[in-house]
Amino acid sequence: MLARRKLDSAGFQTWTVGGQVVARLYLGSCFDLFDMLADCDPADRPRSLFSDPPYPLTTGGRSADPKSMGGKFSAERYANDGKIVAGTDLAFTTWIRAALPALQPDSDLVIMSNDRNLRDLLNAAAENAVRFHRLLVWARQSKTPNRWIMAGAEFALYGYAGKSRPVINKPGADQITSIHGFKSATDHPTEKPVGLFAQWIGDITTPGELIFDPFTGTGAAALGALRIGRRFIGSEIDPRHFGAACRRIDDALSAGPLFANDRPTLPLI
Ligand SMILES: C[S@@+](CC[C@H](N)C(=O)[O-])C[C@H]1O[C@@H](n2cnc3c(N)ncnc32)[C@H](O)[C@@H]1O
Repeated sequence: MLARRKLDSAGFQTWTVGGQVVARLYLGSCFDLFDMLADCDPADRPRSLFSDPPYPLTTGGRSADPKSMGGKFSAERYANDGKIVAGTDLAFTTWIRAALPALQPDSDLVIMSNDRNLRDLLNAAAENAVRFHRLLVWARQSKTPNRWIMAGAEFALYGYAGKSRPVINKPGADQITSIHGFKSATDHPTEKPVGLFAQWIGDITTPGELIFDPFTGTGAAALGALRIGRRFIGSEIDPRHFGAACRRIDDALSAGPLFANDRPTLPLI
């Protein structure tokens, strides 16, 4: 079935398949989207937030390949000042506090961080009454060179607000995920594997559910959600990354069989 994209009156790029809205992406600040969702009927809000938010990143790397981690962070391309993407001065606690009213009262949150910022993330979650289920681990194949032990893992807090939902996890869902053969598809300096989000979203949510990523970047969570028959809503403030996310959603939805299973059935807000 053909996917269609159009810019709607609220300023979202909106994708429909067979008349059903499957994804919406807002070019602008997530704080605008938080307000819009908070104004919706609670049942129409997302129940699940999966995000790889901005945080300060300082790291080394000398590769000449601009697509490798070492290349993206090499001295010619990056001042090592922490400001690798927009919003790295935004505290976890500030955006989590603003995001909660955009979600259903009982909701799940999966929020990524590297090890250096993990303490701030866990403290911010606790300050905002987001309770702890598990610390998820992405065991990266491509490690970042470092004087004090190579950086080879990233983390995600899997927490919940309100009441935890009845257990629906895929039996055997693992705390540690490895994604084989991941190569950057975009110029985004912190692009994540689509398969990582597909795995986590599949472990935690139900078919057709609305997945929210306020910091969409080039769309790893969006593509992960669509790949396994979930709907998606998100925002991205940088027009370049927004454009890349739109193109990747176009391509993904026209790829056919990968997205044809488990077709979402619910309308988007
Ligand atoms: C860590 S990156 C996400 C990368 C994404 N997971 C991917 O695979 O491409 C965080 C993104 O948040 C965006 N961002 C920063 N502040 C924002 C805001 N207030 N509202 C929406 N997006 C924002 C940045 O431009 C950046 O692309």
